[in-house]
Amino acid sequence: MATAPSRDPKKPFLSDIQEIRRRARQHIEQGAVIENYKADLETSIRVLNEALATEIVCVLRYKRHHYMASGIHAQSVAAEFLEHAKEEQGHADRIAERIIQLNGAPNFSPDGLLMRSHSEYVEGETLIDMIKEDLVAERIAIESYSEIIRYFGDKDPTSRRLLEEILANEEEHAEDMKTLIETLGEGARSA
Ligand SMILES: [Fe+2]
Ligand SMILES: [Fe+2]
Repeated sequence: MATAPSRDPKKPFLSDIQEIRRRARQHIEQGAVIENYKADLETSIRVLNEALATEIVCVLRYKRHHYMASGIHAQSVAAEFLEHAKEEQGHADRIAERIIQLNGAPNFSPDGLLMRSHSEYVEGETLIDMIKEDLVAERIAIESYSEIIRYFGDKDPTSRRLLEEILANEEEHAEDMKTLIETLGEGARSA
């Protein structure tokens, strides 16, 4: 088996530390955004704003479902919706923080919110409709965030990692909704 050539231990790991130090002193008003930022900054901010809109729509939909489920005395489902709403709010906050780090402006405008969002706002008639709509929204987020993660790749590892963490949470949400559908389905059959 061929072994990879080992690095010369006497040489520094970084390509050119003098050049890195010189660049760091330039444009310090850019904060965390370095001259060598590898992704297209404008695209990164636009993509993050779309993810932000997706999260806000998910907060609104889960909140609506929480209150509707409370109204029909489906307390455990209502509690699950509320927990998801809070987690989606946390995602929105973390994405907005990242946009600020990239010297962008988080877009919280209700104008065009549904256009920017990947997921939809569907109210649903019955409890099972609501859960199904939430599962669909989670599945949309899972697919669109996976694509965003591929875009960031190694060009912006911080944004990639943030989206990877959020993606893992969306997968848990989808699993929760699937379990609820199964549980309610069984309840309906045995009733
Ligand atoms: Fe989310
Ligand atoms: Fe979610």
